[in-house]
Amino acid sequence: MKVAVLGAAGGIGQALSLLLKTQLPAGSELALYDVAPVVPGVAVDLSHIPTAVKVEGFGQEKLADALTGADVVLIPAGVPRKPGMDRSDLFNVNAGIVRALVEAIADNCPKALVGIITNPVNTTVAIAAEVLKAKGVYDAKRLFGVTTLDVIRAETFIGEKLGKNPADVHINVIGGHSGVTILPLLSQVEGLELSADETAAMTKRIQNAGTEVVEAKAGGGSATLSMGQAAARFGLSLIRGLQGEANVVECAYVEGGSEHARFFAQPVRLGKNGVEEVLGYGELSAFEQGALDSALATLKGDITLGEEFVTGK
Ligand code: NAD
Ligand code: LMR
Repeated sequence: MKVAVLGAAGGIGQALSLLLKTQLPAGSELALYDVAPVVPGVAVDLSHIPTAVKVEGFGQEKLADALTGADVVLIPAGVPRKPGMDRSDLFNVNAGIVRALVEAIADNCPKALVGIITNPVNTTVAIAAEVLKAKGVYDAKRLFGVTTLDVIRAETFIGEKLGKNPADVHINVIGGHSGVTILPLLSQVEGLELSADETAAMTKRIQNAGTEVVEAKAGGGSATLSMGQAAARFGLSLIRGLQGEANVVECAYVEGGSEHARFFAQPVRLGKNGVEEVLGYGELSAFEQGALDSALATLKGDITLGEEFVTGK
């Protein structure tokens, strides 16, 4: 397996690359691409870790080489938020970065599974889809918005509430990846009994967890370490699916499984072609249904913005 990380010298990129270097199956290749000149150094640094994963760094002119032969491409390239900003404020800079990188994917590894981490995810995934479509290589089963951070946050906060190991908590987080579009299905979590006020507060904490980190870092960026862990979990699940493991399920923001919007985060079963099946997510409580109904206009607006960025309509 070859995994390419685009934006590999950044906060997420370095954490993610470390986790992949230590956890990818033996014999894998890890291609690290970034426009920052430090990227070859990041690769040399990681290459001294004794695992059977070959690491190579690729600078600005070497994007095609980084991508050629890739089975999985993970994209954390782009600017992060500062306090006072919404994820949508990143659109002006990050939309163009994602467009250029996905054009190169279309040209060099059109069959790769692509995980978009760059914000605003609700919009950048739509940009990626339209770029791949324009290049004639779009396969919705191979494109994912990475929303795993919302899931691991929910697992953590619920684990704390239940006094339980978060590794034993299972929850689906559906919708999208910003503010009200992040919808954790707390009503379905085994053993979790919350009052209406507690449900509203826990939902809000999960929705605002990114902002909690942005404010705590006080201008120094957004979540990088927890996101590195989330992206590694998701990337490794993609690999397990590609290798034929059965019943690999993760929530992800994908096209084609929802009546609500063109792209929607929900559980998907992963396999040799990416999405094997978009799974249902069960019954919603009245609170969750209300939250979903009121988030849909935002989600659809975010998607349209991305589509129009590429189509020019
Ligand atoms: P960072 O600034 O630490 O790193 C970004 C890296 O991208 C830098 O190394 C930069 O050189 C590189 N880069 C910029 N333009 C590039 C290009 N054209 N090609 C290749 N590399 C390029 O930022 P970060 O904290 O790692 O965050 C990266 C992105 O991930 C941000 O947009 C952030 O909002 C997003 N993010 C998403 C989630 C999520 O849940 N999906 C979570 C956290 C952060
Ligand atoms: C997060 O959820 O931590 C990321 O989307 C980064 C951000 O801007 O909040």
